[in-house]
Amino acid sequence: MIALVVAMAEGNVIGARNDLPWYLPADLKHFKEITSGHTVIMGRTTFESIIARLHRPLPNRRSVVITRKVEYDYKGVEIMHDVADIAVLAEEVYVIGGAQIYAATINQADKLYVTEVHAAIPGDTYFPTIDPKKWQEVSRESHAADEKNQYDYDFVMYERK
Ligand SMILES: NC(=O)c1ccc[n+]([C@@H]2O[C@H](COP(=O)([O-])OP(=O)(O)OC[C@H]3O[C@@H](n4cnc5c(N)ncnc54)[C@H](OP(=O)(O)O)[C@@H]3O)[C@@H](O)[C@H]2O)c1
Repeated sequence: MIALVVAMAEGNVIGARNDLPWYLPADLKHFKEITSGHTVIMGRTTFESIIARLHRPLPNRRSVVITRKVEYDYKGVEIMHDVADIAVLAEEVYVIGGAQIYAATINQADKLYVTEVHAAIPGDTYFPTIDPKKWQEVSRESHAADEKNQYDYDFVMYERK
C-alpha cells in the first residue's frame, strides 16, 4: 500500500522557498499519527528542509530519501535513486513530498491523506490535481481555526477508484 500524505492550501499550494508556508500544529500532530512507526519516502529537498527544522530525520520512522546524487549519504536514513522501487520497501509506505516526489508517485498510490488548508497562501510548489475520475473521497473531518491553528482545515482521505 502506497499512501501520499500532504497538506495543501487553495490552488494545491504545498510549499514556499523550501518550507511549509503555514504553521498548523494540528496538522503536524495528524501527520505524526499517520506516519509514526512506518516507512516514509521523501525527496532530497524535503529531507533537507526537515533537517533544517529538526536537525535530525523524523523520529520513530524509517526515512527513505530519493535523490539522483550517487554519493548522497546521511546518518540514519536510507537513500534510493528510483521512485519506481518504493513499493517493495515495506507493506505500507507513506510518501511525504515534496512536489516532485508526489508527481512521480501519485500514479502508483492507493490512498491520499490530504489536509485541506482553507486559505489562499502564496507558494512555489504544488500538489498534482486530484482527478475525481480516479479518486474517491472516503472520509472528511472539518475543523475550525482556533487560537493555535490560524486557518480552517479538513482532514480528507481518498482511495483509488
Ligand atoms: N505541504 C506538504 O505537505 C509538503 C510536504 C513535503 C514537502 N513540502 C514542500 O515541498 C517543497 C519541496 O518540494 P520539491 O518538489 O521542491 O522537492 P522534493 O520533491 O522534496 O525533492 C526534489 C528532489 O528529489 C530528487 N528527485 C526528484 N525526482 C526524482 C526521481 N525521479 N529520481 C530520483 N530522484 C528524484 C531530486 O534530488 P537531487 O537534486 O538530490 O537529485 C530532486 O531535486 C518544499 O517547499 C517543502 O516544504 C510540502
